[in-house]
Amino acid sequence: MADIDLSEFPDLPDTKGMDIVDAMLAEHDRILIEADDLERMCRDLVATGAFNVGDFDYKVRFIREFSDAAHHRKEEDVLYSYMLEHLGQVAENLIRHGMLVDHDRGRACVKRMEDAAHVYDADPSVENRVELVSWAMEYVHLIRAHVQRENTVAYPFARRSIDPAVMAELTAKAQSYEPHF
Ligand SMILES: [Fe+2]
Ligand SMILES: [Fe+2]
Repeated sequence: MADIDLSEFPDLPDTKGMDIVDAMLAEHDRILIEADDLERMCRDLVATGAFNVGDFDYKVRFIREFSDAAHHRKEEDVLYSYMLEHLGQVAENLIRHGMLVDHDRGRACVKRMEDAAHVYDADPSVENRVELVSWAMEYVHLIRAHVQRENTVAYPFARRSIDPAVMAELTAKAQSYEPHF
């Protein structure tokens, strides 16, 4: 399991003492701040041509290491695996055919954004700029919609359906979770 060092990312939420759902809601807030900043980078790139490949590489690292390895994988390994095992067809539809599909689309999207940033860095053509902005904004729209579906549908369903004693066990697992790719 690769070691993941989150220390370069400022203002990560302190989720100690929160239950698993509250902790993940706090993580969503931090993920959305970075998405807003990625949108700002796209606006600047379109409006003024401002571009620094290192800024895009930072966003890729944040998305892979915090949003995906620390957050999405924890959802998958702790909360969603329990829901898939115990909550029947509703969980199957909501999680397997919804949330997990979003996670995989996000992974593919950030890879396309990373590649497009490096292509644009080598050849800053209009075509390559459009390609970069479109992949970056696809990710921004995807993560915003995904977070909203979790905040308003998936997590409330988990809260309604999971016994408090089980929720406490899931919280303990989430608190000791080691991020991984
Ligand atoms: Fe998710
Ligand atoms: Fe999430």
